[in-house]
Amino acid sequence: MGQNSSQVSSMSSLVHVIVVGAGCRGENYGQFAFIHPQRMKVVAVADPRKFARTKMQQQHKIEDKNVFEDWKNIVEREKFADAVLICTPDRIHKDPAVAFAKKGYHILLEKPMATTAEDCRAIVEACTQAGVMLSVGHVLRYDPLIHKIKELIDAGVVGDVIHIQHLEPVGFYHFAHSFVRGNWRNEAESSFALLAKSCHDIDLIHHWAGARRCVKVTSFGSVSHFRKESKPTGAGDRCVDCSVEGTCPYSACKIYVDRVKRGHTGWPVSVICPNSLPDIESVTEALRSGPYGRCVYECDNDVCSNQVVNMEFEGGLTAAFSMVAFTEDVCQRKTTIYGSKGEMSYDSKEICVFDFLTQRTTKHTASSEALKHYGMAGHGGADYHLMNAFISAVANNDPSMIRSGPEETLISHLLVFEAERSRVEGRVVYCGDSAGQ
Ligand SMILES: NC(=O)c1ccc[n+]([C@@H]2O[C@H](COP(=O)([O-])OP(=O)(O)OC[C@H]3O[C@@H](n4cnc5c(N)ncnc54)[C@H](O)[C@@H]3O)[C@@H](O)[C@H]2O)c1
Repeated sequence: MGQNSSQVSSMSSLVHVIVVGAGCRGENYGQFAFIHPQRMKVVAVADPRKFARTKMQQQHKIEDKNVFEDWKNIVEREKFADAVLICTPDRIHKDPAVAFAKKGYHILLEKPMATTAEDCRAIVEACTQAGVMLSVGHVLRYDPLIHKIKELIDAGVVGDVIHIQHLEPVGFYHFAHSFVRGNWRNEAESSFALLAKSCHDIDLIHHWAGARRCVKVTSFGSVSHFRKESKPTGAGDRCVDCSVEGTCPYSACKIYVDRVKRGHTGWPVSVICPNSLPDIESVTEALRSGPYGRCVYECDNDVCSNQVVNMEFEGGLTAAFSMVAFTEDVCQRKTTIYGSKGEMSYDSKEICVFDFLTQRTTKHTASSEALKHYGMAGHGGADYHLMNAFISAVANNDPSMIRSGPEETLISHLLVFEAERSRVEGRVVYCGDSAGQ
């Protein structure tokens, strides 16, 4: 964004948006309309879940004729809004994105763009041909502190960037929730873990590397611990009737019921009752009968719990990325950037730059006005900033406000597919030379 938000809002007209997929992300982005009712209005919703679409209809006072069970019903109509927020599951990204682009809607598309390189390309091509704006949900690009890392690199504070080390600690209960029991546990149903969880991170590394192209990539990873062999003796198939539940850190009773008892009904509790509001009764019933009550050692999960990616960029810049499930921190990324003049470290709270010449450390922080806006503090306020940029871009017909636009996002997604291919095929992948990519 080249302008601050007060400048933008005074220039902007009201943007009408359609929410496709009124789940966690769709509802979250929809909140922007409550914060800035003069800038965004949700005029339509599509979701096969009656509970979700009715909730959104009521929240945003959407007319009955604009409430749909499927996104396909919307594209059958003449265009009636400016933009669409596509927040459907990973495997339902490409078809709606291409269809809405052809109808002339500007698009905010949740990450990952799509689950194959071919589909990612098709989306970019459709948007380019239709002349519509595309913003991908790479929210971290909009995190003020993460943005500062790039500004500091570009200002030369560490000199030439030589090596980037980046860690994504997923969080032990977050991983169990999303990637063992939940929607992203099985590649055939969603996508592989590096794409689902870490396309953000590979995108950041690529961004920090600047104009340098990644030339080689290797990756290793596996599904550790969350396998049948690790199941403790005497454990049941569901936590609600497991005799060793009290000694299991991944117990669904601890992750969900204990939270409801403490009055916490937001994520991850909110996810497990898809057709009602969460309370003790509905959560307990979900654990008795639904996927989130399963023993973590008895699920159909096949996505990596730990994965490393090594990259070599033009000019010899190297980068090492790790994603690991077994952490106390939940998505509090940690990064060190080693340069010819200094070392920059980031721990999700502040940036420290150690200057080799002066041998002094300078600390940098960034404030986010988003944090005070209830409901859009997700990803350290970055969700708010992503929406702010997208709505401003549409209102002002200015794609330069979007940091997660089609070209760069496509390149970083292709790198993710190449890294995963290295892991699966057990070899170094030379970027861009591969059939099928
Ligand atoms: N940017 C981020 O950091 C971030 C974080 C979490 C999830 N995501 C991504 O956002 C997307 C949505 O995730 P979520 O957590 O909101 O999932 P969710 O399951 O809560 O929501 C998805 C919604 O899409 C609806 N849907 C399914 N088929 C549909 C159809 N044909 N038409 C309209 N709606 C349909 C579902 O009923 C559901 O309500 C996923 O691709 C996910 O990977 C991104």
